[in-house]
This record gives sequence, C-alpha cells and structure tokens, in this order.
Amino acid sequence: MSILPPLHGTYNVEKEWHEGEPFRWERVHPEFTWYETGKVNMTYECVDRHVNDGKGEKTALWYISDAKEETWTYRELQSEVNAWANVLRKRGVQKGDFVFIFLPKHPYCHIAMLAAVKIGAAVGPLFEAFMEEAVKDRIYDCDGEYLITSEEFLERVPEKELPSLKTVFVTDKHVDGYISITSEAEEESTESETEWVDLDDGVNIHYTSGSTGKPKGIIHAHRVMIQQYQTGRWVLDLKETDVYWCTAHPGWVTGTVYGVFAPLLNGVTTVIHGGRFSAEAWYEVMEKAKVSVWYSAPTAFRMLKAAGENTRKRYDLSSLRHILSVGEPLNPEVIHWAFEVFGLRIHDTWWMTETGAQLIANLPTRDIKPGSMGRPIPGVQAAVLDEEGKEVATGELGHLAIRADWPALMKEVWKNEEKYRSYFPYGKEWYLAGDLATMDEDGYIFFQGRSDDMINSSGERIGPFEVESKLLEHGAVQEAGVVGKPDEIRGEIVKAFITLNNTYEESAYLLEELRSFVKRGLAAHAAPREIEVLDELPKTQISGKILRRKLKERDSTPG
Ligand code: WTA
Repeated sequence: MSILPPLHGTYNVEKEWHEGEPFRWERVHPEFTWYETGKVNMTYECVDRHVNDGKGEKTALWYISDAKEETWTYRELQSEVNAWANVLRKRGVQKGDFVFIFLPKHPYCHIAMLAAVKIGAAVGPLFEAFMEEAVKDRIYDCDGEYLITSEEFLERVPEKELPSLKTVFVTDKHVDGYISITSEAEEESTESETEWVDLDDGVNIHYTSGSTGKPKGIIHAHRVMIQQYQTGRWVLDLKETDVYWCTAHPGWVTGTVYGVFAPLLNGVTTVIHGGRFSAEAWYEVMEKAKVSVWYSAPTAFRMLKAAGENTRKRYDLSSLRHILSVGEPLNPEVIHWAFEVFGLRIHDTWWMTETGAQLIANLPTRDIKPGSMGRPIPGVQAAVLDEEGKEVATGELGHLAIRADWPALMKEVWKNEEKYRSYFPYGKEWYLAGDLATMDEDGYIFFQGRSDDMINSSGERIGPFEVESKLLEHGAVQEAGVVGKPDEIRGEIVKAFITLNNTYEESAYLLEELRSFVKRGLAAHAAPREIEVLDELPKTQISGKILRRKLKERDSTPG
C-alpha cells in the first residue's frame, strides 16, 4: 500500500497531545469564556468573543453567488445577529424552544441560526432541497413552534398540517401575512443580551435517517463546542489567516458543525457559496476568495474530476493549502487525482450526525494511507468489534465502535430513549456506529460498508423505509423494496424494486411519474434514479418482511 507523507499542519497535534500529560478534553476548556463563569452560549463564543478580543473588523462571512458578493465583518455579524435575536425574543421565542430554519445557503441562514442560539433556543436547520413532506415530518415530530424561511421556500411549508407552528418569519422585506425578520430587525437595537445556558442545554436538532422508521431528531448540547473548536484547529488546521470553505448546506450536519460553528469558533473567514454545483462556479469561488482550506465530499470531488483538467486550469487555485473530505468513502483514485491537479492530498474525516464532530481523521501531521479514513483523533478511542462486542483481530471485518463518551456526542434522540440506547448494544462503554470497518496494525481504519440498510447517495443519508412508504402512497404501487446501488459518481444511487397493483401496467411514463412523486414528497436526492418492476419481492418466510439484502445482491454490480 502506498503511504503519503504528512502535510506538516500548522499545529503540531502529536506534540500538543503527547507532551506533558496525556490529552484530555478538559485541556480545551480554558480556551472558552464559560470556563470562568460556568455558563455558556455557542453564539457568544462564535461571534461576540472575537469582537471583544479586538477582531471586530475581520471578515467573518464572505458570500459569493452568480449575482452577488457580500462580506460581513465579525462586528457586522454581531450587530445583525443581535438585532435578529431581539426580534425573536419580542415575538415570543424562549430558551429551549425549537426554531426551524429553512433557507438557502446565504449569510441569513448563519445569522438566523446564531440569533436563535443566542437567546437559548435550539435550531433545526432544514436542507434547502426538502419538499413539503420532509419539512412537515421534522417540524411535526418535535412540535416546532417557530420557523424562519423565505418567500421562495414558503410553498414547501405545509402550514395547515403543522398545528404546533406559532410564528413563521420570512427574510424578505414584505410578504403579506408574515413577519419580516429583516424589516423588524432594522428597528431593533444592535445590542442584545446573551442567554447564558448550561453546557448540556440543547443547541441544535438534526433529523437523520436510519434503516427503519422516519428520520430521528438528534439533539446536540452546547458542549459540542469543545470538540468542534478543537477539531477545527487540529483536523481542518484552521488558523486566523485562513479563508475557509465548507461546501455543505447547514441542513446537513456537516454544514452546521463545519460550515457555521467550527470556523467561527476558530475566528476564521468563512466562505458561503449561493447557488448550485458546477465545476466552473466552484473553482471561481476558490479563486475569487483565495480559499485556503476546503472541506467537501467525495461526490463533489468525483464531479470535479469528471469536469476535466482543462476546466481546472483556467483558474488560479494557488491559495489552497488543505483539502478535506467527509460523508462517504474517499476513493484512492480521487486522492491521487487531487495530488496531481492541486498538488495536495485530500484528508479524509469520519463522523456522523450522532457523534456531533469528527472522531476519525487523517490529521495534517500524520501520514495518509489512501483508502483509509485515518486514525482516531486525540481523546478518542476506536475499535472494531465482533457480534459479542469483543475486539476482532487486526485486519478483520467488524463493527466500528467508539469508546463513550466525547464532548460532541448527541445529548438525546428526541422523544426516543430506546433509539438512543440502540447505539450502545454492549452497554455504555461502546458507541456503535452501524458502519463496518477493518483496522490495520498501525491503527488506521478502513470503511467497509454499513451493517444496516441505510443508503448513502452523494453523502446524503437516505432511509429506505421513508422512500418505500412514499412509493406505497401512490396508487400504482403494491409493494416496494428500496436499496442503494453502487454508482461511480454518487457512491450509491437509490434503486426501487416494486410490484404493481393489477390495474396498472409498467411504462416509462409511470416510472417517471413515480420518481417525481417521491421527489415532490421528500427531496430530489431521495427519489429513486432507477425503478425496476418485479412480479414479486423476496421476503422472509416467517414474518414476510421484504428482504432488502436479496434485492441488493441482484444489483451489486454497476451498469
Ligand atoms: C458515512 C456525516 C466513509 C458512514 C458527517 C457514517 C463515511 C455516515 C465517512 C454518517 C467517511 C461518513 N468514509 N463513510 N469518511 N464519513 N461516512 O450522519 O456510513 O450524514 O455512518 O454524517 O456517513 O452520515 P451523516
């Protein structure tokens, strides 16, 4: 196996970790204001602290879209967040409330999150591509009372089906029947009291899919900042002069943790790109903002690779110094491609919504083994376990487990204690990820797949059950089994096997109709790219459950 030598990160992690006493998370605590007061607030540490430290004139957010470019200094960000916080407070939002945020990638999305958190609410960022039902399921599940959205997105908010929703704010200036948060903010003071909360109070809720049931609400507490700050420093290697770009929308946990919190905690300049993916647009953002640290996902890298070297050559990307990846297996070919075209190695990172921050990574100061996600970061211990919870021999396949706990571990699964406990099948000691992995003699961990039926398409977690349920709502579908099918660009695509009700006949038109039916209900990424009609679906003999595994086997070869 090839080994790529380290990049020489800015921070000597091994030294910070090994010298003196062994690394403990408590060592990070004195970096925060709450260390002295005992009370905490994520927004204070992300924004106000930097202004108080004399960094108010530094650029915090740098927004770039086709039409527009805007920058916000830390002081401007603070003023705007404060004014929005005052509006929210006046309009009844209190500590512990859920404030959902359904906005495109734009500074307003950051500001909305920070404002709600400043007054002690927990934010629920919703993915910008969600359709009606996905929006409804999430707000409904936790009786969300507040929503900040835009006029353009309103048509995807089924207000009538959401009795808990008290107030809907819009970021546009005038929309009949709605409170314009931006207009009201103009009338507000740019100073606002921070709501000081406990480390264990909720800061955000992210709904995420597993292999059964509807998406579950994963709640994180303010204490995540300890690890989000530290991984920003060690793994992203952020230093104050960096211009940093995380390509994820905050509706995906990566966009919240490493697109909003971690970079602001580290006081860097964060780039926000408004608009869709295209190789040209992305390279342009990097050239224009002189991005130095870039965090993205394998699907995006594969699409850039497919766009070709001639496209890339048109842009000056010499400011880049560190590239990272998350969300799906990072192919060695992609690492080699990046080395050729950027002269840099892509550093893989592994974590999950539930884990709240990175746990396994290729640190910039360590050798990379292409194909491996890296090793546990300092303060984290990982293992590969067998069915009984015993460690397997080096190189053998087993269940990826992390020794509990760590600062960013979820606080709870909303109203689902049983689900929370299911992550700890061997008792409190080991958190089980649901991923299959191997570990080599140097402690490098290699991802080998999921142990359940969860689908990972372009880094998006898709629960087969959700897609199956949606398909069954359509009159034509009698039964449905949904699996992930290997795909060169997206990692996996959603594939549905269905049987039809007998008054229906298979046609290209019907299949397209089913596809858009799921798309309209859930989201484009959940819609099956392939639908195959069968006479019957394979089932377990006793319980009659659809055997997704059998369906997957039918389909395990691409093309
Ligand atoms: C997968 C994303 C391979 C894994 C932050 C995990 C990965 C799930 C990697 C979590 C990686 C994440 N290599 N697979 N580097 N990182 N995964 O909650 O299956 O959207 O359990 O969080 O993505 O997805 P989630």
